[in-house]
Amino acid sequence: MLMSYNIRYIARWTKRQFLPLFICLLTASLIYSLLPLIGEQHLNSSNASFTNNITILLWHWPFGMRYNLTGDVCLRDYNISGCILVDNQTLYESADLVVFHNFELMFHKQQLPLHLYRPAKQRWVWLSLEAPQNNGNLSPFKNIFNLTMSYHPGADITVPYGKLLLRTNPGLDVIVPKSKRYEACWVISNYKKWHKRSEVFQELTKSLNVQLYGSFGQKPLPKEALLPTISRCYFYLAFENVQSPHYITEKLWRNAFQARTVPVVLGPPRTDYEAVTPPKSFIHVDDFKSVKALSEYLRGLIKDPEKYNEYFSWQKKYVVKLYTDWRERLCNICPINGQFPAQKVYGDLGAW
Ligand SMILES: *[C@@H]1O[C@H](CO)[C@@H](O)[C@H](O)[C@H]1NC(C)=O
Ligand SMILES: *[C@@H]1O[C@H](CO)[C@@H](O)[C@H](O)[C@H]1NC(C)=O
Ligand SMILES: *[C@@H]1O[C@H](CO)[C@@H](O)[C@H](O)[C@H]1NC(C)=O
Ligand SMILES: *[C@@H]1O[C@H](CO)[C@@H](O)[C@H](O)[C@H]1NC(C)=O
Ligand SMILES: *[C@@H]1O[C@H](CO)[C@@H](O)[C@H](O)[C@H]1NC(C)=O
Repeated sequence: MLMSYNIRYIARWTKRQFLPLFICLLTASLIYSLLPLIGEQHLNSSNASFTNNITILLWHWPFGMRYNLTGDVCLRDYNISGCILVDNQTLYESADLVVFHNFELMFHKQQLPLHLYRPAKQRWVWLSLEAPQNNGNLSPFKNIFNLTMSYHPGADITVPYGKLLLRTNPGLDVIVPKSKRYEACWVISNYKKWHKRSEVFQELTKSLNVQLYGSFGQKPLPKEALLPTISRCYFYLAFENVQSPHYITEKLWRNAFQARTVPVVLGPPRTDYEAVTPPKSFIHVDDFKSVKALSEYLRGLIKDPEKYNEYFSWQKKYVVKLYTDWRERLCNICPINGQFPAQKVYGDLGAW
């Protein structure tokens, strides 16, 4: 009686438990067989530099000036890993991004490789650091480029000429050069009568002693003499060749700021300068009713060292970071590569 009860119980138990047990065993064996795969995946994702290299092919060098790409340039010089810069066109197929500098395309010194098959994941980047007025006719480039690279904050890849970094050692005394000799200086090679800057200069020079350098003034400056020479001027005419939104070049960052002189700027509106510089770091031509009023203001500052020196107080907090190396600009694409839209084509390159 007792035995038969037991057998019945065991039979019932087996019937009820067999299916879940079977499922359990199946799952376990499945997990077991998948383990190596999961392990490998973990290994790969933990070693990003091994799997996530981004290859950037520069199709031609801007203005024909080559830079050395030997070795892992981005890691060695800019501490950016997994970012491979190449300039060998035969590596086209493996490139994640292909960068084309507009200047050579504009003058037909270089051609777009439109005959080549474009891998689905590959992006073509249009690069120019010039203002739109100097980029030529962009209509032949309809529906070709996926990304833009320019100084403009609206570009997919923004590459400013310079910027300010917070000092790591603030509170240092600001050194205003004592050897100021000229009221104002201007370095100008590409002088064109019709430039707005030429007009302002011609007017300004009537009432202010403006020292000219560069081929227009027939006083060319060697590279190493540029900053020491400019530092002897109270003011530097950081006049851009065209006035275009956000177009602020090394004339401000290097020629004026790094030379420790006060920039008088002619370029985009004051608000564009304010967006990238601290208060009281520049004097804007547009702030004055006339060039004569500007000149009077500058003369007043020269006579009042305390007021003049206020234009240097931002240097207690900031240092200038200049961008001049194409390799640095290109390496800086890699950290933001994941942020680009999955699919994008520029119908009209001039529109943004
Ligand atoms: C991990 O990387 C190796 C070597 O590149 C590759 O063969 C393998 O398929 C990768 N595994 C996974 C799960 O992605
Ligand atoms: C990634 O780049 C580094 C440095 O050039 C190289 O050593 C490594 O083999 C590359 N990895 C892959 C998966 O191509
Ligand atoms: C990534 O893996 C490669 C190949 O196994 C190795 O040479 C490299 O040192 C690893 N890098 C890191 C950052 O772990
Ligand atoms: C390029 O850079 C590498 C590594 O720094 C160096 O060994 C080589 O001499 C350089 N080549 C030229 C042509 O300067
Ligand atoms: C890049 O542009 C080409 C040409 O218009 C287009 O076919 C391709 O899908 C685009 N790729 C990406 C990733 O946006």
